[in-house]
Amino acid sequence: MTTAVMKKKAVRDVDVQGKRVFVRVDFNVPFDDFGRVADDTRIRAAIPTITHLTGRGARVILASHLGRPKGQPNPKYSLKPVADRLAHLLGQPVAFAEDCVGPAAQKAVEALAPGGVLVLENVRFHAGEEANDPEFSRQLASLADIFVNDAFGAAHRAHASTAGIAAHLPAVAGFLIEKEIEALGALLEPAHPFVAIIGGAKVSDKLVVLQRLLEKVDVLAIGGGMANTFLRALGYKTGKSLVQEEMIRAAESLIARANEQGKQLLLPIDVVVADFFLADADHKVVEVDQVPDEWLILDIGPLTVKRYAAALKGARTVFWNGPMGVAEWPAFAKGTDGMAQALAESGAFTVVGGGDSVAALERTGYAGRISHVSTGGGASLEFLEGKVLPGIACLNDR
Ligand code: 3PG
Repeated sequence: MTTAVMKKKAVRDVDVQGKRVFVRVDFNVPFDDFGRVADDTRIRAAIPTITHLTGRGARVILASHLGRPKGQPNPKYSLKPVADRLAHLLGQPVAFAEDCVGPAAQKAVEALAPGGVLVLENVRFHAGEEANDPEFSRQLASLADIFVNDAFGAAHRAHASTAGIAAHLPAVAGFLIEKEIEALGALLEPAHPFVAIIGGAKVSDKLVVLQRLLEKVDVLAIGGGMANTFLRALGYKTGKSLVQEEMIRAAESLIARANEQGKQLLLPIDVVVADFFLADADHKVVEVDQVPDEWLILDIGPLTVKRYAAALKGARTVFWNGPMGVAEWPAFAKGTDGMAQALAESGAFTVVGGGDSVAALERTGYAGRISHVSTGGGASLEFLEGKVLPGIACLNDR
C-alpha cells in the first residue's frame, strides 16, 4: 500500500478500552417501497470496525447521513430501520437516539456500557452538518473521546461529521476506509493489462475520471447512455437516444487522445433500441449504424458484450463503474449483467464502484467473485480523479 491512508493513524493504533468512540459510517442505504432496507452492503461493510471496538470494550457511537433531508428532521430519512438491521447483523442490541446532538444524544451516550453500540439519528437533520458548522462539529465531538472515520462513501464530503469533528478529537481511519484506499489505490499503480469499463448516463459526470483513467489503462470500454455521445462524436446517428450535445467535443478529444497514446477505446458495435423509454417498450438489437430515427438506445448489444468480455481476457487489473444500459429494467439489463459475469470470470484483480454496477453484481450473484466491491460511488470516482478526500485528509498523521 503506497497510498494516503498509510500515513494516517488507524483504529488499531489507539487504545479504546472504556472510551466513547464516535464512528462516522456511511449508512446511506437504499430502501424498498415498504420502508425496509433494500441492500445492507454498506451496513455489513462497517461491521469489522464496530466489532473491533466492541471487542475492546469501547462505547460505540455510530453516526451517518441518510438521503438528502436538507437540514430538517424528516421521518422518511430516519436511521431507525438501519439501527434495527445492524442489531440483527451484529447479534446484539443496538440503542437508538432520536437526535444526533443535544440531550437525547447525551442521555443515550451516558447509558452506553463498554461494548455497547448506539446509532444516532440522521446527522443531516441539522443544517450544520452539510455546512460543516464549527459549533455543530463541536456538539458532535462533545459526545465522544475519539473519532473514527469509516464512512468511505461520504469521504468526499467536507461535512461536520465527516471532517469538521476531527478538529476536536483524536481522529483515525476505520478498517473500511483502509480497505477502500488500498484497493482503489492499486488502480492508480495497476498491474497491466489494465481495462476500465465505464458506463452511466452522462459524459459530464465522468469526464475527469475518464481522462485520468486513460493515462493508466490499456483498454477503456464505454457503455451506458454516455456511449451515445461518443457514437455521435464518431458520426453515427443515435435516433432519439440521450446525447449530451455539449459534450460531443470532449468525447472527440478523448477518442483522439486514446489514438495518440496507442490506447484502445472501445465503443458499442451493436445496441438494444426501444421505441419508447419504457420498461416494456418494443425493442430489438441493431448494429450501431442502424439505429432507427424514432428509437432510442437503452443497452449495449450482445456482440458488444462479447467484445468487452474478450478485452478482459488476460487482463490483470479491471475497474468497472456504471451500468451499460437501463439496468433496472430486465429487457435492458443484459449488457450490465453480462459485464458482471465477465468481470467475475476474468481472473483479474477486479474493482467495482457505483450503486448500479454493484446492484447488478448482487442481482447476478457475482459479487462474491469480485476482488473489491467499493461502497463509494462519488467518493471512489473522486479518489481516482486524484482529488484529496476531506474525510481522509482530516485524520491524524502517523
Ligand atoms: C453516496 O451514496 O454516494 C454517499 O452516501 C454520499 O451521499 P451524498 O451524495 O448525498 O452526499
